[in-house]
Amino acid sequence: MTGAVPLDPARGKLRAVIKGTGSALPKRIVTNAELAAQVDTSDEWITERTGIKARHVAGEGETTATLGTEAARQALDAAGMTAADIDLIIVATCTPDQTFPAAATIVQNALGCNGGVAFDVAAVCSGFLYAFSVAESMIRAGSAKNALVIGSETMTRLLDWEDRGTCVLFGDGAGAVVLCGEIGERGVLATKLHADGQHNQLLYVDGGPSTTGTVGKLRMQGREVFRHAVTNLSSVMYEVLDDAGLQADAIDWVVPHQANKRIIDATVKKLGLAAERVILTVDQHANTSAASVPLALDVAVRDGRIKSGDLVVLEAMGGGFTWGASLVRM
Ligand code: UT7
Repeated sequence: MTGAVPLDPARGKLRAVIKGTGSALPKRIVTNAELAAQVDTSDEWITERTGIKARHVAGEGETTATLGTEAARQALDAAGMTAADIDLIIVATCTPDQTFPAAATIVQNALGCNGGVAFDVAAVCSGFLYAFSVAESMIRAGSAKNALVIGSETMTRLLDWEDRGTCVLFGDGAGAVVLCGEIGERGVLATKLHADGQHNQLLYVDGGPSTTGTVGKLRMQGREVFRHAVTNLSSVMYEVLDDAGLQADAIDWVVPHQANKRIIDATVKKLGLAAERVILTVDQHANTSAASVPLALDVAVRDGRIKSGDLVVLEAMGGGFTWGASLVRM
């Protein structure tokens, strides 16, 4: 572990700056029409209620760690760095390759940078925001210098393919960012995280090593989750804006968790933001849990919408419940 860049009050604060982004998607794409041939649903219902048109589904040899590694390599390339520069790897996931060890250690070994810190964070769909916050704090505290923060999931392996209320909603993929300590105006300006454990039974997996000894299947009461999501996400976005002393109209881009287009629309409306400011990938990726925010971020960085200097808000909400937001000067 290397020390932090020393603080020079004359030059500004030490912040964690996003130096590169990357993503990875499984090869196989499954359309709504294909799902409608298997369960009692339709392209019309899925499109109208969620905005989803297709999702990627992991096949043989594609796992949370392989997708995460691919996303990490892209992020390192984009940052102009190599794995040898990385001293911290955090993988946000609820679908690790093995119950233990952490997927982050598999990614670390695949990248060939063994010896630094590597661990997983489990906060389901908010996992990336949680992992991002931990990495950012470690960088500011001086216990890490250059971090890889990865959201990677193979959610389709937790699905009950006979439950039309959930199996149409999720997909697989990974997104990654390289976070580095730097003194200046760029970087993470504010982050807020929350959890409220009383809502466990609204969104959960009905198995686990310590209870059933099985992996289990995803269960959700969608309508209830929807209601909480809009309230929690809009309030946590106001919290990070307040913390940074900024108004909503300062935001250039919202990179939301991609669970449902209706949740995203309702949330940004509460902030009075224009729909053109929102990065949407839910149509092609569906809900990829912890991967959804870094995947959407990478899409918008690569297509040139999000540029250096832009003010971006990342937000997510998921099982737990957990939720959070981060305000970042790119
Ligand atoms: O990542 C964070 C966690 N996840 C979320 O944020 C998801 C939050 N929830 C949602 O996105 C939405 O609640 C859903 C998309 C899951 C459901 O949309 P909804 O508008 O809340 O529908 P609903 O659950 O109230 O169901 C309406 C109807 C029901 O039929 P009846 O009882 O009205 O006859 C469902 O049985 O739609 C039916 N339905 C379906 N019909 C066709 C549920 N799933 C399907 C389906 N195809 N796939």
